[in-house]
Amino acid sequence: MATNRTFTMIKPDAVAEGHSGAILKMIEAAGFRIVALKMVRLTKERAGQFYAVHQERPFYDSLCTYMSSGQIIAAILEKKNAVADFRTLIGATNPADAAEGTIRKMYAKSMESNAVHGSDSDENAQIEGSFYFADTEKF
Ligand code: CMP
Repeated sequence: MATNRTFTMIKPDAVAEGHSGAILKMIEAAGFRIVALKMVRLTKERAGQFYAVHQERPFYDSLCTYMSSGQIIAAILEKKNAVADFRTLIGATNPADAAEGTIRKMYAKSMESNAVHGSDSDENAQIEGSFYFADTEKF
């Protein structure tokens, strides 16, 4: 059953290039309420833990290096049908396939540097939110 929360990260190059404000504005304008938010820099090891589900994939090492290359912004977002609606807002993983008006179409540079992460299921939204905000139930 769909829940009303999802989890996102604004990725290192989008933060470093000053797109955080514009991306957060798009997120709020689309009707998401920011429930929790923090800026952090991951170690490569911690990035590897977050993306452990991809550890057998050929892009895993590069992804972990990239995700620990600078500060990221992690946030829990709330909206009815949050997971699906947020994936629509961000667009396809590969920006070459992202629809006009999506966050990735506007700010992503490549499959790896794709500006934002969005949870792919309610279960993963809960797991990923807890990775950064241990006490999510308090928000
Ligand atoms: P994200 O939504 O954060 O989830 C996993 C990330 O791996 C994905 O966005 C991309 O940044 C990155 N990635 C790199 N190469 C690939 C690939 N071939 N397929 C899927 N994800 C990839």
